[in-house]
Amino acid sequence: MTTWNLTGTKKHVLICNGSSCMRKEGEDITLAIRDEIKELELDQHIHTSRTRCNGRCKDACVVIVYPEGNWYSATSTDIGRSIIRNHLDPSVDLAESLIYSFENDEMKRADTPERIKGVSKVEKSKV
Ligand code: FES
Repeated sequence: MTTWNLTGTKKHVLICNGSSCMRKEGEDITLAIRDEIKELELDQHIHTSRTRCNGRCKDACVVIVYPEGNWYSATSTDIGRSIIRNHLDPSVDLAESLIYSFENDEMKRADTPERIKGVSKVEKSKV
């Protein structure tokens, strides 16, 4: 068990380790993200956490970056590494992996055919 001093951390990367994401290379993607952080000497700036299911299993493996609030579908270790490289170089293109971003204080789904809408929480609560 560790208690990190997170003062000065610039990004928090949440890596889904729920069962669907683990079936889609979640462990390898987690290790690749952490390795890229180490290689780029970003340990002081980027903190990672493994999570349980984030409710977007069709997009496995889900990786979420705050404070931006960008949700990504990391379908390979290379995409996981690119998410970290994007911290240093915003020109690293992640558009095809984006699931959600925050706009005007709410989440907005990426406008790509790969991103299914999903089940509405409002409709489900009426059942
Ligand atoms: S297991 Fe990762 S989003 Fe569901």
